[in-house]
Amino acid sequence: MKFQEDCRILEKRIFNNYLYLSIETKDIAKNSLAGQFVNLRVNDSYDPFLRRPFSISDVEKDVLKLIIQIRGKATTLLAQKKEGESVNIIGPLGNSFPLFDKDAIFVAGGIGVAPFPFLAKKVKNIKLLLGVRGKSLLPDIDIFKDFDVVISSDDGSVGEKGTVIDLLVKENFNEKVIYACGPNPLFRALNKIFSSCGNIEAYYSLENYMACGFGACKGCSIETVNGNKLVCKDGPIFKWNEVIL
Ligand code: FES
Repeated sequence: MKFQEDCRILEKRIFNNYLYLSIETKDIAKNSLAGQFVNLRVNDSYDPFLRRPFSISDVEKDVLKLIIQIRGKATTLLAQKKEGESVNIIGPLGNSFPLFDKDAIFVAGGIGVAPFPFLAKKVKNIKLLLGVRGKSLLPDIDIFKDFDVVISSDDGSVGEKGTVIDLLVKENFNEKVIYACGPNPLFRALNKIFSSCGNIEAYYSLENYMACGFGACKGCSIETVNGNKLVCKDGPIFKWNEVIL
């Protein structure tokens, strides 16, 4: 079930170019599952016109937590909001991460870390592999201090020089469940590895252009091995070998 609410921003902080929001909700937080997202109206006016989808980063009782990369007009406006101001939110939307009794590897490209604090509460023995372009684009990793984090950067300014794929190939991942979130090139690179590995349990959280967020506009259609599907309604979580990237 989804809800539409005017929600108060309880806490806001900025780290590098990421905005961390804690938002008080009536029903959205307590009905959310790890992997779902919310669709947020950034302004009372109609500019920008469309809502913006954001992964649910975490939930604590009635409080919804979001990690948002500040890029473009909508997220810049959002970053200018003050604690105590309200935002209109529709959610929770989409499906959720499937859960297994296995050790987990999280693979994140930059802002792809967003859904993982919530998922971390549902799985065990987690290792987070995080790839960024450079140190100035590193999200706050303090929130992941309770588990093993390995970082890579394209320019070597933080962590190991290279990509998050370079980190994954050093891991013994075949017996684990892999959860990945990031841009499509990350998923394509993962597919190249997984397609030669036999039976891999891996799930992608797709970042896609969206408008309505709940299946009405058909604007987020993607091709899968089972025909066209909607990222907002059938996803955003898909098994690695289901989506045609
Ligand atoms: Fe409208 Fe998915 S965003 S159908």
